[in-house]
Amino acid sequence: MIQTVQINGIETIVKADGEQASHAVADLIAAQVHRKADSVLGLATGGTPVQTYRRLIEMNRSGAVDFSGVTSFNLDEYIGLGGDHPQSFRVFMNEQLFDHINIDPARTFVPDGCAADVAAHCAKYESMIESAGGIDLQLLGLGHNGHIAFNEPGSPRDSRTRQVDLTPETIEKNARFFDSIDEVPCHAITMGIATILDARQIVLLATGAGKADAVAKMLEGPVDESHPASLLRNHDHVTVVLDQDAAGGLRLD
Ligand code: F6R
Repeated sequence: MIQTVQINGIETIVKADGEQASHAVADLIAAQVHRKADSVLGLATGGTPVQTYRRLIEMNRSGAVDFSGVTSFNLDEYIGLGGDHPQSFRVFMNEQLFDHINIDPARTFVPDGCAADVAAHCAKYESMIESAGGIDLQLLGLGHNGHIAFNEPGSPRDSRTRQVDLTPETIEKNARFFDSIDEVPCHAITMGIATILDARQIVLLATGAGKADAVAKMLEGPVDESHPASLLRNHDHVTVVLDQDAAGGLRLD
């Protein structure tokens, strides 16, 4: 089953496996950068985008895509982790992508988890996105509970970059990146739902059977803040890229 279908207005691409889905997402990002060399990309961390980033590194090395004009804004960062902490999203992005491509490091932005005044930092992050011209393409992963970035269930649809509490479920899922669950921060800075919906194009990647239920609710359940990813159906240019396992809960009727 390899197909592209429209589900409640969302273009949904189903690939045979995670690698093909990840490569399809890399192609969408590269196409954006080809269309507009000074694109503003919104980027995500987590396990899901790693293969996409690997592919983009290969494409950059072979000359198939040039990031020298690109600006990037990451979705989120843990509160309390500085940009040199091994589990910070800043270090993750440097190691998984930025250090290996020809992007200007000074134009890669990740929220500062150690900002002294978090509210002021969040407001500044929003204004920096606006000054850069807004996000052309926002890459998203999907939480098992339907979160996008760290907008947990119940996050308001008009929310903007702010400090949030992580749910016990998210802390437990992310413990795999830390030595122990006690080290996982309980709070984060995240772009809001409204910040994400302001992006001109949104590409959400979900892979693996563990995401099937969250994918089905996102695409075929009610559009409701209790499942934040369903709010993406209020946007007119969203592409969801799945592998067969993540598509396994869809009725596709
Ligand atoms: C990452 C982020 C999160 C993840 C989500 C899925 O910046 O904001 O919403 O996209 O938790 O994580 P993985 O990919 O690890 O399953």
